[in-house]
Amino acid sequence: LAVAAGTEPDDSNKNRAKSRSRRTASSARAARPLARACFKPPLSVSRVLWPAHRADEHLDLVEKYKKALTKMRELPADDPRNFARQAAIHEAYCDGHYHLLGAAGAGNEPFDVHFSWLFAPWHRMYIYFYERILGSLIDDDTFALPYWNWDAPAGMALPAMFEDSTSPLYDAKRNPEHVNAYVNFMHPKDGVLIPWMKMRDGKNALGASDFLGGNFSPAVDRNSGTSGKLESAAHTGIHIWLGNPSMCKDKDNGKVCELDMGFLGTASRDPVFYSHHANADRLWHIWSTRLEGRNFEDQEWLNTSFTFYDKDKSLVRVTVRDFLDPAKLGYRYEDDEEKKQPWEDSAP
Ligand code: C2O
Repeated sequence: LAVAAGTEPDDSNKNRAKSRSRRTASSARAARPLARACFKPPLSVSRVLWPAHRADEHLDLVEKYKKALTKMRELPADDPRNFARQAAIHEAYCDGHYHLLGAAGAGNEPFDVHFSWLFAPWHRMYIYFYERILGSLIDDDTFALPYWNWDAPAGMALPAMFEDSTSPLYDAKRNPEHVNAYVNFMHPKDGVLIPWMKMRDGKNALGASDFLGGNFSPAVDRNSGTSGKLESAAHTGIHIWLGNPSMCKDKDNGKVCELDMGFLGTASRDPVFYSHHANADRLWHIWSTRLEGRNFEDQEWLNTSFTFYDKDKSLVRVTVRDFLDPAKLGYRYEDDEEKKQPWEDSAP
């Protein structure tokens, strides 16, 4: 897989990104060699991600997150670890900024990390580096993100820790009607995700393409791509729920709509984005372990690589193959695959 600007994922300037993407394939290829450092995941598991709705039991961790995020927001604007630049990575990979190179990109198709089998691994990489940077800013290797546990009844609302308007975890651009509401479409009995998590094909879990998404191809477009259920069934619903684009009444008249979570391009400006994706990541992990879902073995998927800035600001190239097992990346979920999930007992 070749992506035109995949070597500079931090770009936040739309025009710069656009003009770069207009380069010919060969000049973009010549400008490619930016990944400098080898990827060195931690040697042992030291980060335990925890459920955001149980913040009361983890007050010290909430404080750590606030402290680390404040530091991240205060970094100079040209530091790739700065929060705005971290958020811009996501925008760059989904808002038509990067285009495909070479034969696959003969038509200069925009590149996107949604709507295909790239969704789960790319987002795992993205939050991995985000979390590691935060940890290094407070000099704490054990720093781990809270996950928005929206598949458990107690977690089916925006976690309170994100609601305090004086906190760095706050974002004003959320749908006010939903900030204190129940995520009704996630109901354990007839919610949109649970039937897919529980679905069996004979005695097997949902297959890789159905769960993770279909093979990436230039023909995949934003509206008709082959998203897996992990992405389309609950993940996307949460985005829309918290930042409902239909609230933006004058959108068709060119009004800029800023309801962060409601648009892929702006979603990662809301700190809850990372906790939302930590939960999607956790469900991928549960599917591939406890539910015995089988990841793709396709070399094209396994060898797909992306570059990210690491905690020491060096660019590292990582492959999907490197990102299949949280334990090898030094983290686990507090409520991990060993434990039966609340939805497993609800009627299908
Ligand atoms: Cu990249 Cu939840 O989106």
